[in-house]
Amino acid sequence: MDKLRIRGGRRLAGEIVISGAKNAALPELCAALLTPERVQLQNVPRLQDVATMTRLLRTMGVVAEAAGNGEATVTLVAADVRSREAPYEQVKTMRASILVLGALLTRFGEARVSLPGGCAIGTRPVDQHIKGLQAMGADIVVEHGYIVARADRLAGARITTDMVTVTGTENLMMAATLASGETILENAAQEPEVTDLAEMLIAMGARIEGHGTSRIRIVGVDRLHGVSHRIVADRIEAGTFLCAVAAAGGDALLRQARGDHLEAVIDKLREAGATIDVGEGWLRVRADARPRAVSVRTSEYPSFPTDMQAQLMALDCIADGAATITETIFENRFMHANELARLGAKIDIDGRVAVVQGVERLSGATVMATDLRASAGLVIGALVADGETTIDRIYHLDRGYDAMETKLRALGADVERVSA
Ligand code: EPZ
Repeated sequence: MDKLRIRGGRRLAGEIVISGAKNAALPELCAALLTPERVQLQNVPRLQDVATMTRLLRTMGVVAEAAGNGEATVTLVAADVRSREAPYEQVKTMRASILVLGALLTRFGEARVSLPGGCAIGTRPVDQHIKGLQAMGADIVVEHGYIVARADRLAGARITTDMVTVTGTENLMMAATLASGETILENAAQEPEVTDLAEMLIAMGARIEGHGTSRIRIVGVDRLHGVSHRIVADRIEAGTFLCAVAAAGGDALLRQARGDHLEAVIDKLREAGATIDVGEGWLRVRADARPRAVSVRTSEYPSFPTDMQAQLMALDCIADGAATITETIFENRFMHANELARLGAKIDIDGRVAVVQGVERLSGATVMATDLRASAGLVIGALVADGETTIDRIYHLDRGYDAMETKLRALGADVERVSA
């Protein structure tokens, strides 16, 4: 397993380009199942999860080709989808595979998708996905670890999910595009990735309004056509680099970043003492002093995102003062705390609340990544720690960050990937 070796204590300065959003790319790859015509996605991030999803679609019979010249463009044609199944072997490696369910069911009337099972950060059930599709008339049984769904044609329905669910909203929105009649999604997720998916679906001929709010209205159509769509920039990747500079100090320019998708994060980092300029498609972050401790409570968009919680915790570890971090979305998303403590951090966990007492310095050590965003938090911890830190199991990082070490080196960090 690959490791990252980082020598901390350096200021970060330079310029990087933010990649397309993982959490938009994954549902948008699945949206190709909704039409037999050619779908082209641009600005596709080079991520393990994207490769996994593309492989899953290919096993179903979707023709998927990446542009030869290394361009981040993928073309998909779902004209001959022989299999409507997402097998356990593939779903277990990436729970976002559940996103094929709504598209398969509404286009082909059948789907057999393995239950994702839990993951490191929580049980993460998919009961809301199932409930919503049943409200649209699907006949669904869960047997032998699989969701087996059938429907002659889904019918529009009014669906209120018990909680805000990002992929639940995306699955139901995709299912509704080819259903008969009107679907109203109440309590819908407002994340920019949901909005980007809606815009892609509208460009394919779907009738959708209200995306980006908690109430999305979809009127079903008989078919969708092909599209060429550019994937929205990854706000969590951008937020991760903003947080790294705010913690380590420096002056960095992030190109192809959307400040309007990061308002809660930018507010927090300004509160911590960073200077952040928001331009048209770029962000500049400067920090030249020890950050001030900032407390946060994660919540659904547009509040502070759970996917930035580990990164902010790493900043708080060396900040001036004490901070309280409350994680409201997932029940077990503090695993990075024990690893940060190996670097010398002082963190007390009580259920969903972490209290971080900032210390002057962290010292390098060997730590282990446990999940995608925890890895990002450990990278930030390593960047500010004295001496050398080795982060093990960075396959977690590779799932969601496109060439993280290359971008960090472009900012002057002393980081190398060590292949085991
Ligand atoms: C999406 O996961 C993201 N993944 C996650 O990003 C992100 O952390 C999460 O949304 C929250 O923003 C993708 O978009 C591929 P949820 P998702 O359904 O959709 C509960 C990353 O690091 N719930 O919004 O799976 C659930 O347990 C990943 O990029 C149910 O109980 O999250 C959680 O407590 C990690 N039943 C809460 O709702 C359901 O049917 C929010 O989950 C669905 C969800």
